[in-house]
Amino acid sequence: MMNTAGQTSRCRVAIAGFGTVGQAVARILASGIHPSLQLTHVCNRQVSRKVVDWVSPDVVWTETFADLLDGSVDIVVELIGGVSPAREWMEQALAAGVSVVTANKQVIAHDGTALAQCARAAERTLLFEAAVAGGVPIVRSLREGIAGDRLYRIQGVLNGTCNYILTRMEREGVSFEDALADAQRLGYAEADPTADVDGFDAQAKLAILVGVGLGCQVDVSDISLGSIRLVSAIDFSYAKRLGCVIRQVARAELLPDGGEIRAAVQPALVPEDSSLARVDGTQNIVVVDGEFGGETAFSGFGAGGAPTAVAVVSDLLAIAHGAPGRDDQGIPSRRRVVQQEFDAPHYIRFMIRDRPGILAALAEVFSRHGVNVDAVWQEPGWSKTELPFVMTLEACGSASVTAALDEISRFDFHVRPPLWLPILTMGEARA
Ligand SMILES: NC(=O)c1ccc[n+]([C@@H]2O[C@H](COP(=O)([O-])OP(=O)(O)OC[C@H]3O[C@@H](n4cnc5c(N)ncnc54)[C@H](OP(=O)(O)O)[C@@H]3O)[C@@H](O)[C@H]2O)c1
Repeated sequence: MMNTAGQTSRCRVAIAGFGTVGQAVARILASGIHPSLQLTHVCNRQVSRKVVDWVSPDVVWTETFADLLDGSVDIVVELIGGVSPAREWMEQALAAGVSVVTANKQVIAHDGTALAQCARAAERTLLFEAAVAGGVPIVRSLREGIAGDRLYRIQGVLNGTCNYILTRMEREGVSFEDALADAQRLGYAEADPTADVDGFDAQAKLAILVGVGLGCQVDVSDISLGSIRLVSAIDFSYAKRLGCVIRQVARAELLPDGGEIRAAVQPALVPEDSSLARVDGTQNIVVVDGEFGGETAFSGFGAGGAPTAVAVVSDLLAIAHGAPGRDDQGIPSRRRVVQQEFDAPHYIRFMIRDRPGILAALAEVFSRHGVNVDAVWQEPGWSKTELPFVMTLEACGSASVTAALDEISRFDFHVRPPLWLPILTMGEARA
């Protein structure tokens, strides 16, 4: 940053929210490896609990956000999480002429366009690299590294908690409940896991990636969701027979006519040799397809204090060095209609009380909905009173599958509701 005398000055940074990520950011700033950045303020409720002796004694500790806007701060880092007062604090900072860096996916996904407008009006910068895929520098890669291409598809494993649960079930055959309990014990999952396992976390991240990578804005709630709660250990052995693994996949694709977009977050079968299958444990991956450059993958730690803090500090450095173009910092305002239907082959797993005529009944319903059954798979050794088997369906629209399953779910032979998952083939040509 240049001061009025044309000399380089240190960029004064305030952290709002001194939790996991806030403390990890402060650790990096306190290490002294970035002389252009100076931590000057920390704001947190009941702040006296938070004071540490490893930051400079000059740092001001406060409970009052307005203290950060008195002219002595260049950038506020919002790390309190949640929607309110995070959004209001970001607006107040920008209006006061202070740039903002945040890791807050919910605020950026829902209000990123409005906040970018505030930033533009104030001639300040808003950056949010850490809001998607933690330590994976995907926002900057989409805006700069791969800006020369025209992207039409983004697919990713964006939730480390789901990936931990699904890879544990795959490798060790444990149940969803046991894998979730382990994730909670290890601090990878919240006491209420809804946001992760039911897809809301990945939904917000996908909405941001659609804005930055595909250049259009979508309503977050228009992105359809499927939960991983119904996936059982048995599904991994059937998936393996099909050369696949199961991942929570977030994907969005521009439709060739240009007016609409498809977007969904749901568990899906992906080929075991694909990039999406290779991310392990709590890691994240984003795979983008471009018209000219083909498929490019970005992966790494999607969460955790230190990796996320690296993304935050990289944003601070970008502002300190004057890098980001102010016209290109938010989510674009061009809106797209979200179509929730994808064409794909499908995997349907039934858990039934066996009796004659079940296959014929299922085949009749699918055929009436124009869906062709590809194969039926049944592993030996299961009780007739709780018998799992799988049908794979030839490629068809998800609406036909759900309409057929709606009817099928009314049959009285189910022990558990059927599970349907799309079977994704990676890297296929644009639909
Ligand atoms: N942790 C990760 O791995 C990760 C990864 C990517 C993105 N993020 C995002 O980073 C942000 C911060 O996450 P985190 O894991 O660091 O959360 P955290 O550990 O819960 O830290 C939040 C901090 O903000 C304080 N705070 C919350 N509400 C406040 C309020 N109204 N006024 C003043 N202080 C308040 C909390 O104080 P108390 O101690 O009193 O609660 C706490 O110190 C979130 O938006 C999250 O989604 C986190």
